[in-house]
Amino acid sequence: MASTVEQRLKEVASVGQEIAETGVAYLDGAFVPFADAKVSIATHALQYGTAVFEGIRGYWNPAQEQLFAFRLREHYERMSDSVKILRVSLPADPQGLADITVDLLRKNSFRSDVYVRPLAFKAARSMKVALAGLRDGFGIYAFPVGAYLPTGGLAARTASWRRTSDDAIPARGKLTGAYINTALAVDEAHDYEADEAIFLTADGHVSEGGGANIFMVRDGILVTPPVTADILEGITRDSIIVLAGELGIAVQERAIDRTELYVADEVFFCGTGAQVAPCVEIDRRAVGNGAIGPITKRIGDLYFALARGDDKRHPEWRTAVYR
Ligand SMILES: Cc1ncc(COP(=O)(O)O)c(C=O)c1O
Repeated sequence: MASTVEQRLKEVASVGQEIAETGVAYLDGAFVPFADAKVSIATHALQYGTAVFEGIRGYWNPAQEQLFAFRLREHYERMSDSVKILRVSLPADPQGLADITVDLLRKNSFRSDVYVRPLAFKAARSMKVALAGLRDGFGIYAFPVGAYLPTGGLAARTASWRRTSDDAIPARGKLTGAYINTALAVDEAHDYEADEAIFLTADGHVSEGGGANIFMVRDGILVTPPVTADILEGITRDSIIVLAGELGIAVQERAIDRTELYVADEVFFCGTGAQVAPCVEIDRRAVGNGAIGPITKRIGDLYFALARGDDKRHPEWRTAVYR
């Protein structure tokens, strides 16, 4: 079964702390002290959740004295898709935004794992609840980060909150307002001493975690819900599908029933924050034999080694921040 609640809470304790306003942030075309990167209380995005965000990890490799941003360009490509849904404009193309991010990380001289948070938002001080014709803003900040979900075997709970469907609030876009859905579900999971929520779609199939995609292993096959299951099309999910193929593990993208998770051999969550987070308990039932499974372990080990640059394969996934 999952390690004790205290051990799991300790691993993710830093996530709950306030982010220090130190160093440099980027706001509307300029690098400014983080503490000065402020918006008006009347900002549309603050009133109505009309912003698009991304979450990108940088992994510090102490032996190479290098910070590697993981799949930086792909995050900005997804952001370019998300802004189409919300009719927000971006100040540059994906490569231009990636270049600004590298500059920002250099200016902060980080020598630790970091999390980068770009935000494109409806900046107008306007009460009009609509999208077109409103002034947009764009900012990026970054901060040192640890684990977002426990990595030693976590407990999950199926949420009583359904995943917002694509024809209500689309999960395909990384839209700030949509994360009310996540906050409700994860909060509920925490109330039941679970670490992560599992969302079902409106038709009752497995969608994803609160802030991560989900995979299960059944009979040696790695299975994950399709992109039409009201998921965020995760970049880590994509990386894992590629890596599983290279490891000779069969992958299926198909609808998953809730009880398939109960009888699965292995389950894990994945995401930029979550990284690869094995799930050993769901709704108070042990997953498999209640320990981290062999396929999850192989994929997790490979993911961490590649992201940190200890494994040199897939150099196209890593952007070295320092020259
Ligand atoms: C709801 C949700 N699903 C999935 C993911 C995973 O996406 P990615 O691997 O691109 O970070 C995230 C973010 O990490 C998320 O917030």
